[in-house]
Amino acid sequence: MIKCRELCKHYQTQEHSVPVLNSVNLDIHQGEFVALMGRSGSGKTTLLNILGLLDQPTSGTYELEGQSMLGHSSEQLAALRNQNIGFVFQQFCLLPRLTIFENIVLPLQYASGDVSDAYAYCRGLIDRLGLASLITRKPAQLSGG
Ligand SMILES: Nc1ncnc2c1ncn2[C@@H]1O[C@H](COP(=O)(O)OP(=O)(O)OP(=O)(O)O)[C@@H](O)[C@H]1O
Ligand SMILES: [Mg+2]
Repeated sequence: MIKCRELCKHYQTQEHSVPVLNSVNLDIHQGEFVALMGRSGSGKTTLLNILGLLDQPTSGTYELEGQSMLGHSSEQLAALRNQNIGFVFQQFCLLPRLTIFENIVLPLQYASGDVSDAYAYCRGLIDRLGLASLITRKPAQLSGG
């Protein structure tokens, strides 16, 4: 599902180039659960940002479902993220002015033209997770967990 070969990422600062990822080869297959572990500053977020299509590598290749993830426009990358990738961000990244329901339904609204289908699907998920009583609140009105 995920295939990286000789993946490199160097950050360019004003003075010098900071090498962070040096020829990473990685295969993750459908259904696998993978934990990325390493000391602080070792490049975990850098790699996840590339795998999640939030950043591009300096060199090397990255294929997702057999398709190269390099050289796409930001609009194409946004569509690929919407269709293929789910994030659980440590800092939530919920939109503060939208309600919980609007936050949950937003990616599906972008993905499909049929809003009523998206609403019905999200209501089902919300019920399964026991969140129904919270969905009219704003993110700042919930507990962290
Ligand atoms: N935009 C940037 N410009 C220059 N250097 C950067 C930039 N972002 C990250 N770095 C450096 O790249 C290295 C890897 O950072 P990264 O955030 O990927 O580490 P991490 O493994 O996620 O660390 P942590 O466990 O602390 O979250 C660090 O040395 C960091 O200082
Ligand atoms: Mg990190």
